[in-house]
Amino acid sequence: MPTPNETYQLLRNLTSPVVAVTAERSGKRNGMILDSAVRASIVPSIPRLSVYVHKFNFSHDLIFDSGHFVLHLLRTDQMDLVHQLGFASGREHDKLTTIPHHLGTTGAPVLDDCYAHFECRVANVMDSGSSTCFLGDVVAVGFGRAAQPRGEVMTAAYFRAHIPAAWKTTYEEQLRAAQDFAAARSRDIRPVVWRGLERPS
Ligand SMILES: Cc1cc2nc3c(=O)[nH]c(=O)nc-3n(C[C@H](O)[C@H](O)[C@H](O)COP(=O)(O)O)c2cc1C
Repeated sequence: MPTPNETYQLLRNLTSPVVAVTAERSGKRNGMILDSAVRASIVPSIPRLSVYVHKFNFSHDLIFDSGHFVLHLLRTDQMDLVHQLGFASGREHDKLTTIPHHLGTTGAPVLDDCYAHFECRVANVMDSGSSTCFLGDVVAVGFGRAAQPRGEVMTAAYFRAHIPAAWKTTYEEQLRAAQDFAAARSRDIRPVVWRGLERPS
């Protein structure tokens, strides 16, 4: 039987690209980074994806309260954006003031520079105790405004292999803090009925 750490390293093979997720609530715009996104539909006419967002992140509340988010695939040359959105909370400062964006069809911010973006309406949620898994219906899609070629999508493996040495300590500290938070909360799973869930009568 692998050790817990070996199991965690094996699970890392399942991680998604490193993506930027944005949301808006009552005029407050924000963005974060995550690597827990997956395709959640095999039906081309019903495109869906899901993301796990920790409850301590500001973005969690914006997505939960607004019911919308935008997921952006990033290029490998967008490391600085990962630092801007993924290393500090929007509770501390407004991260999007210096990042060019516009409001999309759902009212959530769409970053001008990315590989591609998916505007999502939350279709359902699942509580994991420490985070919420948001299932998103993709309602609009677009490519970033940068000139061709589009470049390569930033994977989690690329990020880990190329993270600048100066960011490493902070990254590892934040990962450990998130792991501690998750360890304390993961067993406390609550049933959640998503308010927008429409059941056929
Ligand atoms: C490479 C990377 C992957 C991350 N993956 C996740 C994730 O899957 N889920 C999550 O909740 N936070 C993840 N984070 C952490 C958030 O991006 C970070 O806590 C951010 O500061 C949250 O910002 P906010 O409080 O403004 O929402 C990741 C950060 C990095 C750098």
